[in-house]
Amino acid sequence: MTKKIISLGASNSTKSINKILAHYASDKLENVAFSLLDLNDFEMPIYSADRENESGIPELAHKFKALIENSDGILISFAEHNGAYSAAFKNIYDWVSRIESDVWGNRPMFLMATSPGGYGGKSVLAMAIARYERASGKPILSFSLPSFYENFSNEVGIKDTELLNEFQTQLKRFEEAL
Ligand SMILES: Cc1cc2nc3c(=O)[nH]c(=O)nc-3n(C[C@H](O)[C@H](O)[C@H](O)COP(=O)(O)O)c2cc1C
Repeated sequence: MTKKIISLGASNSTKSINKILAHYASDKLENVAFSLLDLNDFEMPIYSADRENESGIPELAHKFKALIENSDGILISFAEHNGAYSAAFKNIYDWVSRIESDVWGNRPMFLMATSPGGYGGKSVLAMAIARYERASGKPILSFSLPSFYENFSNEVGIKDTELLNEFQTQLKRFEEAL
């Protein structure tokens, strides 16, 4: 049976380079159906314990959780903001974690990050891997693409041979884990 994944760029920018990378990677998976989510469709008030006590968990958080539940795997490319998750992603993650602290279940995950700089969002990527690895019994595959505008084009995709090889190896492992 065809596997289903959800993919997302963990950014709310309409020009998100992480959304571009998430789309590119999802498109390369064979026999996998993907749905590319837009974080703007899940914008909620900033999480607060007071809001939760007063009004409960927003419907959009339940909707996001249902999409996870309905999937066989998760593919995320993280935008790095000051070394960490974008506020847009973190807010969704926080609300969804109030439904169940284990947000992703034990689904296979392919985590990526890219940025215009040479470090390629490695800080946020390390943070996400460390967090999700504890909860997941499955291997977490990962890939960081530094200097996005030098190493990626819409026509070619990942241009650097070494980076492309590493990307393909990780993507293949993710595909096999699904
Ligand atoms: C508030 C803010 C903080 C940022 N902090 C970092 C950072 O810590 N490391 C980094 O590599 N890039 C940083 N950047 C640059 C982002 O990597 C860049 O905006 C990138 O395009 C974000 O990904 P996106 O296009 O998917 O949103 C920051 C950008 C903003 C707006």
